[in-house]
Amino acid sequence: MTDSVMPTYGRLDVAFVAGKGAWLTDTQGKQYLDALSGIAVCNLGHSHPAVTQAICEQAGTLMHTSNIYHIPLQTQLAEKLTELSGMEQVFFCNSGAEANEAAIKIARKYGHEKGIDKPVIIVMDGSFHGRTMATLTATGNPKVHAGFEPLVPGFVRVPYNDLDALRMAIGHWPEAVAVMLEPVQGEGGIKIPDANYLAGVRSLCDQRKLLMMLDEVQTGIGRTGKWFGFQHSEGILPDVMMLAKGLGNGMPIGACLVSGPAVGILQAGNHGSTFGGNPLACKVALTVLETVEKTNLLDNVNTLNTQIVDGLEQGLLGQDGVKTIRSSGFMFGIELTIPCVGLVQQALEKGMLINVTADKVIRLLPPLVINADEANQIVTTVSELVLEFLASQAVESVA
Ligand SMILES: Cc1ncc(COP(=O)(O)O)c(C=O)c1O
Repeated sequence: MTDSVMPTYGRLDVAFVAGKGAWLTDTQGKQYLDALSGIAVCNLGHSHPAVTQAICEQAGTLMHTSNIYHIPLQTQLAEKLTELSGMEQVFFCNSGAEANEAAIKIARKYGHEKGIDKPVIIVMDGSFHGRTMATLTATGNPKVHAGFEPLVPGFVRVPYNDLDALRMAIGHWPEAVAVMLEPVQGEGGIKIPDANYLAGVRSLCDQRKLLMMLDEVQTGIGRTGKWFGFQHSEGILPDVMMLAKGLGNGMPIGACLVSGPAVGILQAGNHGSTFGGNPLACKVALTVLETVEKTNLLDNVNTLNTQIVDGLEQGLLGQDGVKTIRSSGFMFGIELTIPCVGLVQQALEKGMLINVTADKVIRLLPPLVINADEANQIVTTVSELVLEFLASQAVESVA
């Protein structure tokens, strides 16, 4: 069916033609409850009327000029993002990988300005930062590297959620200029660090004047129940924060935000993007932020997180084959003791979109707009699926 498209994705045998809220309709008219949101993108669900209206109005007014002119909507969006986050300035681009590329360039230039010719960025095992050459190098997954060597120099890796390892790496690398990490590892398997971890990273960065660079591409825009994942750690602010995914609800837009020592590093001519921050994308992102605010979606995430976790724990915890259930807001990970990629197809057959990452972790990223009934439906269907799946496999007791 897709021979003219490069086979870069292992696609499921389904195509959707319409969506409304948390529901998608396929070419046969079958309906699916979307518990994945296009991988943390459609936080407001599908065809949200405010987003549709913003797109139509802005497309009928002005879609694109160029960054060689002022773009007032870009300024408005930057002001809103800095107000929500406490960061100071924003560079706009079109994707998560691009937001991370901007961060990597900031870190390197920051190093050069300090007289470090070969700056080193410390990154994490199990991380995911994108598919460009620099961001795949930063990614802590050998499968993502394979076939693309030589990788980009200037990255060293430490275990995630391990402050001692980070302290040692910082001590070992005088050329270190930045630490880049996710507040919760999404692709890595919904890995949630200890409550004091981000504050610990912040203080290690402060001691050595390294930039703390948080990849909030998946965790940002309400996904964890706060606007940004770092806001769960009181009193800390990153120097660089990267956003994409939920910022546009499907309109491609990414952002790299800076504060403190990272402000003013990139100057005219250092970085740019043709499409980045065009009026259409900025109007949509502004509408997304306003809608999350107006409709109290953060409260919805926090309330339904408890409902979903309670339901999943009741149905699954203690079953042979179920290792743990982890969550932060609307990021849920059910870790099994055995690989379970086949569950994605089985869920599809039951009319639900889920994902499996890191081989053994069922990942749920529902739209932030779901209601209590839809939350229940996710719990019931996923619990049934997992129990059926485990019953069909020979699993060892974890007790
Ligand atoms: C944490 C994180 N960073 C970066 C990316 C890459 O984003 P994009 O696919 O928009 O380039 C992803 C995508 O899954 C992500 O989860």
